[in-house]
Amino acid sequence: MKILITGATGLIGTEVTKTLATAGHKVTATDCKSGDIPKGVKFVLGDLNDENFIESLKFKFDAVIHLAVIHEQFDDRGLKVFEDNVSWAYKIFAKSAAHKVKVVIYASSLSIYGTVFSDAWTSPEFAPFDESLPQHHHDSYALCKEVNERTADMWSNRSKTAFVGLRMPFVNTMKAIEAHAIAQRDGNIKQMEVAAKSLWGYLDVRDAAQGIMAILDRKSAGSTTYNFGAPDTTAPFPTKAMLAKYHPNTKILKDIPGYGSLTDCSRWTAAYGYQPEHLIDRKKLGI
Ligand SMILES: NC(=O)c1ccc[n+]([C@@H]2O[C@H](COP(=O)([O-])OP(=O)(O)OC[C@H]3O[C@@H](n4cnc5c(N)ncnc54)[C@H](O)[C@@H]3O)[C@@H](O)[C@H]2O)c1
Repeated sequence: MKILITGATGLIGTEVTKTLATAGHKVTATDCKSGDIPKGVKFVLGDLNDENFIESLKFKFDAVIHLAVIHEQFDDRGLKVFEDNVSWAYKIFAKSAAHKVKVVIYASSLSIYGTVFSDAWTSPEFAPFDESLPQHHHDSYALCKEVNERTADMWSNRSKTAFVGLRMPFVNTMKAIEAHAIAQRDGNIKQMEVAAKSLWGYLDVRDAAQGIMAILDRKSAGSTTYNFGAPDTTAPFPTKAMLAKYHPNTKILKDIPGYGSLTDCSRWTAAYGYQPEHLIDRKKLGI
């Protein structure tokens, strides 16, 4: 397939670009910073805030994978995070629809539910939670993920382009995920809080890339978002004990055995089948 990927030299983009190239896709990779680009991939350096640059990408692709993002809150209101992330997605989705791209795959985030970056301590209403969990935004990063999902819905209504959004938890290399688990095991208070706000979710970056491959392998239609994460947690104690300590008001809808994830990914599994394969080795970590 002919594929355009944005954010190609970022954490997830680097792995996805490598995976696409290895699978033999014809990849155009773009980012505003250079990086490790595999042989055979066309790299285009450019800034998504530059309208002419977006125009120059032409959008003659079978699939577009949109991963470019800014995270840093440059100002008190988080305005730049909102403006950039929302306007890039809008423009890329619009161009993809106009040029009849078959599928747009974009990164949403588990932070959409609002707990991850809220200043106040917030808890999910219920667990395990599917995509119907109410969203309570406290920050512009979470809000822009919500807006981008609605933008995908709109362009899907106006075109035959399919939009697939992935609500992923903390994504990183296994080394970084294990370091996060070890810090919790060792009682690092800050990491315990970060992990509790992130609802102890994780996804190895290789699984993020394979999930995207699974989408490319199947026919998608309309606009749908999916919880997509590992089936277990980074927490040092079983999930019910962690919930009792950090989110005591969360209603437990059904039993969560052992270290099971709070996130219900059954919609994802039913649609694309791929199950994350790179899971933390509790025995090795002594948790
Ligand atoms: N890493 C995570 O834990 C995680 C979790 C859930 C969702 N996500 C989502 O996945 C996507 C990718 O995340 P990531 O962790 O790889 O982020 P990242 O910051 O590593 O990569 C983002 C890329 O976007 C590029 N970019 C920034 N400003 C740009 C601009 N003006 N023009 C062009 N490119 C620009 C950056 O240079 C960077 O390479 C994002 O949408 C993010 O919200 C990430």
